Amino acid sequence: MVMKCYKVVEDCDCLDQISKEAMTWIRENTDLMENWPHLFWNKIDYKHFLLENPTLVKWCADHKLAIREVAVLFAISEPGGKNPRVNEQLHIDDGPLRSKINFPIYNVKDTWTEWYDVPDAPPFGPAQSLADRDLTKLNMIAEFETVKPVVFNSSIPHRIRIGPNAKVPRIQIAVMFLQNIDYMLE
Ligand SMILES: [Fe+2]
Repeated sequence: MVMKCYKVVEDCDCLDQISKEAMTWIRENTDLMENWPHLFWNKIDYKHFLLENPTLVKWCADHKLAIREVAVLFAISEPGGKNPRVNEQLHIDDGPLRSKINFPIYNVKDTWTEWYDVPDAPPFGPAQSLADRDLTKLNMIAEFETVKPVVFNSSIPHRIRIGPNAKVPRIQIAVMFLQNIDYMLE
């Protein structure tokens, strides 16, 4: 079974409210908006986050998904900048959790996730940077403007593209579950 790179989550009518609650929590409980982090992947006090994000909690409960953790994904490259931060370049996430759901939160328009076929990519396991690869010699196998929630296959090499009309910082949250949701990508 070949797994998809991503699958759009269509039944999330409450996305605007999820984004609003998440942004309020980020502004009130972190300094991420004042001091842009060097790292793309930001661990947070997700238990406190969930207390103040009832819409996300309800959506997950309605879908029989038990939340394991939430992280804040913070992309800060200037649109069209020549030197994108290392943390947004081609990589494979840390295993063993392959499938997460990413929700768009802030400035997501014209920001894209691209997945690539990297024939000699290492097997899924520890996080791997593939930033040294020449993208012009690789096949892009999927791309998605990150304006909707998606089930996200983090085991296939991927990177963010910040388009010319994007604004930064661009923020998403990644939600990890106690259940294995790989079946959603089949
Ligand atoms: Fe990733």
